[in-house]
Amino acid sequence: MINNNFNIPSSEDNLFTGIKECAEVKKLLSGMFAEDEPLYYIETFGCQQNEADSERLAGLCCAMGYKETANIKDASLILVNTCAIREHAEKKALSIIGEMKHIKEKNPRLIIGVGGCMPSQRHRAEKLKMSNPYVSFTFDTGAIHLVPSLVLGALKGGKRQFVFSESFGITEGIPTKVKNPYKAWLSVMYGCNNFCSYCIVPYVRGRERSRRPEDILREARMLVENGAKDITLLGQNVNSYGKDFDNTNIASLMREICKINGDFRLRFMTSHPKDASDELIAAMAEEEKIVPHFHLPVQSGSDRILERMNRKYTREKYIGIIEKLKKAVPDVSITSDIIVAFPGETEEDFSDTLSLLREVEYDMIFSFIYSPREGTPAAKMPDQIDRAVANDRYARLLSLQDTITDKRNARFVGRTLKVLCEEESKNDPQMMTGRADTPRPIHFKGDPSLKGQFVNVKITKSDLFCLSGEIEK
Ligand code: SAH
Ligand code: SF4
Ligand code: F3S
Repeated sequence: MINNNFNIPSSEDNLFTGIKECAEVKKLLSGMFAEDEPLYYIETFGCQQNEADSERLAGLCCAMGYKETANIKDASLILVNTCAIREHAEKKALSIIGEMKHIKEKNPRLIIGVGGCMPSQRHRAEKLKMSNPYVSFTFDTGAIHLVPSLVLGALKGGKRQFVFSESFGITEGIPTKVKNPYKAWLSVMYGCNNFCSYCIVPYVRGRERSRRPEDILREARMLVENGAKDITLLGQNVNSYGKDFDNTNIASLMREICKINGDFRLRFMTSHPKDASDELIAAMAEEEKIVPHFHLPVQSGSDRILERMNRKYTREKYIGIIEKLKKAVPDVSITSDIIVAFPGETEEDFSDTLSLLREVEYDMIFSFIYSPREGTPAAKMPDQIDRAVANDRYARLLSLQDTITDKRNARFVGRTLKVLCEEESKNDPQMMTGRADTPRPIHFKGDPSLKGQFVNVKITKSDLFCLSGEIEK
């Protein structure tokens, strides 16, 4: 199926062209910072898409001649990459941006830029413009490649800028500074066409567009050469990848990536049930490098609510996919997102969600109380749910899922899992933390020299939030 909603630029004409501006910024900075170094600080909120975008922002900062600082007060350039998925996410970002007023007062040459999903809504950008005069510029999610020219404008003392992309495209070749070389994000598509009635994402990330397979494969090869051991393919709706082209889809893309030589594994986030194809399930069953974990958000177990959410599937259809998945990949870990207290949700609808949890037996869920988003259809629905009812349902949902998660985690005790050692445990420096096929972290005794390596860990104990074990020699 060809998607004609946008123009897909070719690999040649969509290359990043901001290197000239980066060099100009660098030149200006070398004059302004004779004694001290220009430092950047990036604050990131939201999902993995934003994490990946922040790696691009970091790459651009380095290309402009800034060095990273972990201390916001030392920065000469602060970029805030915001999220707008729920009210709480926006409030958190706004509060941090509010505090920056004091940092700016002490450091008048500080440049503050706000990007991501929040200022991709005009009313939010307008508010930032009026209420936060120390913010030099805002940029929407389609304008990351323009950051060097925005910084240049601010350094030259130009007018404050508030960028809205007329159409969201794809820019290849933006410099990237990865946070963790062995755990890589790889964006394969951007945007969303689904317009679930509660969700702001299609309005702030534009329509679906897929990167060309050759560009993705080139990047995947480079990541593996640079030591990536765990690659997550990213997209708002990653299993609709390739609809812009005639001859590819997420399953064939993943099979191609699996052919790259190297000891690495492949994940994907996140999937919409309407596009969870048999081909994708078969790829997971057959390809050793694909992690047997499927994040397949259901949102609600009630057909009535699914329809009001505009999710385009029924409970029965969803369960059908889960059954196929469990049959093809017997030890699969399944996770989901759930929204409680969607407008009009009755106690009966909610108990349908509870019964779905029992039926599927998710390894883990991410659950959210519905949050009205300005401009979405659900925000205008009349029967919004009382906060106390929402809190009560939320607590009951968590409590049920805890017992299911406990049971699911316990199945690993006694087994040996191949774990990618990621970092020191936060509570005990002698312990390391890593991940296997299960979405839960795994703790084991080890030292930091193991970081980035696969180790075999025999699981001895399971808790609600993690597994623990010992390295097998
Ligand atoms: N594209 C992904 C979801 C991205 S948003 C997908 O469809 O799977 C992540 C999750 O946030 C959603 O799955 C949903 O559960 C939740 N969410 C989105 N909008 C919300 C809202 N207005 N209120 C509460 N939760 C919301
Ligand atoms: Fe939002 Fe639905 Fe798109 Fe996911 S599929 S990003 S929930 S509109
Ligand atoms: Fe948030 Fe935007 Fe991701 S709204 S969840 S950062 S796509």
